[in-house]
Amino acid sequence: MNSDIFSQVDNYISSLLAPEDAVLKATISSLDVANFPQMSVSANQGKFLQVMMILCGAKRVLELGTLGGYSTIWMARALPENGKLITVEIDAAHGELARQNIERAGLSNKVEVKIGQAMDILQTLIAEKAEPFDLIFIDADKPPYTEYFEHAISLSRPGSVIICDNVIREGKVLEATTQDEKVKGVQRLNESLKNNKLVTATILQTVGVKEYDGMVVAVVNRNDH
Ligand SMILES: C[S@@+](CC[C@H](N)C(=O)[O-])C[C@H]1O[C@@H](n2cnc3c(N)ncnc32)[C@H](O)[C@@H]1O
Repeated sequence: MNSDIFSQVDNYISSLLAPEDAVLKATISSLDVANFPQMSVSANQGKFLQVMMILCGAKRVLELGTLGGYSTIWMARALPENGKLITVEIDAAHGELARQNIERAGLSNKVEVKIGQAMDILQTLIAEKAEPFDLIFIDADKPPYTEYFEHAISLSRPGSVIICDNVIREGKVLEATTQDEKVKGVQRLNESLKNNKLVTATILQTVGVKEYDGMVVAVVNRNDH
């Protein structure tokens, strides 16, 4: 099947259900202006994150990997009035651009951009006994995805949703002897889910305007599950 059809259908869906307004378009353009990579989620994936947030009644959201704040803006828009989103970014220039985009979106009161290593910030949040997050979106560097996921569970409550992007990598996860550290990172996470009794998880393959990939969607089990 021609992969053009996936882009065309993605555009069909987003024109119906996830149209980008001027703020989202400007966020994408700002990445080109700054010469940063176009690695944001697609519009439909942004809408998917919103749907997941509403399903789990998300008031508190944690994101690892901010870039220009595109997924951040989608998610922050689905927060209730008293909601809060913390997004973590290692690159100070990405974080600064995200702050500007979030400001333009009128969401600065709900969003905190933390600059630093995702692992350090996760450990600090755990040490501080941060209030649990209702949804955690993992979209940073791939090698430590398993550890990010384990820390995310520590920062969650029963019913919290954990989503990890880019875990299929155009099917490269099937290559058992891969030397690609990103592929190895997501393979390790995907395999760890098989025996993880703390969550109920699946992986959705994603096609569309972005390259062929996939997302882990996991819900944290109740203690009696
Ligand atoms: C795929 S982009 C995030 C895209 C964003 N979630 C969106 O959809 O708009 C990944 C981001 O993770 C950041 N990153 C990479 N390694 C990181 C780390 N160890 N800790 C925190 N952020 C990291 C990168 O600088 C990059 O901005």
